[in-house]
Amino acid sequence: SNTFSGLFDGRNVITLQRVPSTNEYLKDELSKSTPLREGTVIMAVEQYAGRGQQGTAWQSEPGKNLTFSLLLMPSFLDPKHQFRLTVAISVALAQWLESLLQTPVTIKWPNDMYVGDRKIGGILIENILQGKIWKSAVVGIGINVNQTEFSPAIGAHTASVKQILHTDCDLTELMTDLCRYVERSYQGLKNGTYDAQLAFYTQHLYRLGELHPFLVDGVRVNGVLSGVTETGRLQVDFNHHTVDFDIKEIAFVI
Ligand code: BTN
Repeated sequence: SNTFSGLFDGRNVITLQRVPSTNEYLKDELSKSTPLREGTVIMAVEQYAGRGQQGTAWQSEPGKNLTFSLLLMPSFLDPKHQFRLTVAISVALAQWLESLLQTPVTIKWPNDMYVGDRKIGGILIENILQGKIWKSAVVGIGINVNQTEFSPAIGAHTASVKQILHTDCDLTELMTDLCRYVERSYQGLKNGTYDAQLAFYTQHLYRLGELHPFLVDGVRVNGVLSGVTETGRLQVDFNHHTVDFDIKEIAFVI
């Protein structure tokens, strides 16, 4: 149902038929004079210029998937702890997906959702700072739900809820349920349960503890993914010597 109290109580859901990107739309709205309430949700039926991390595109067949953005105002967090929000949102998504799919879900660093070796969803968080204060976070979430055909370029590495459950799902119901998980995780972050969230996040990292090939500065090297630093850098062990990396410095070799 759509009736629950709290941040995402359904009162501030704006559904758009067709929009380039819900993140862009929400950022535009934030730059206007009318203030938006924390918990505002921008949902798109058709998002035709969706964006992913590092300038990638996020493609979604109209009407089939969840493509939406949430407005959070994590002013209780020091901007230097931005990664904590990434962790809280990733944990919420992974827990929600695991309960929905009844199968293990991993988090491909920093925040892609994986089932086996296939990506089922992603998160794009865009932070808006005012000086040293964190004003707002635009949390964009894309989950493949009822789409079952993907372009050949990504098909082998992509999953959807329908491919796993073999049934169509009601998008509004899923979104309401997912928002509950996000809200719980976000309140947890506010109430200081960050350590537990980070532990869950680390334990669910895709390829944790496995020897895996990475590309570092274009060079292929084998290392064991061992965790993340406080600021969200990826830690990889090379012959028991740990190095940490920024997203621009390292890539998984698929
Ligand atoms: C990624 O895979 O790197 C992140 C994908 C994030 C996609 C969502 S869909 C809703 C929101 N609007 C966007 O343009 N992107 C995010």
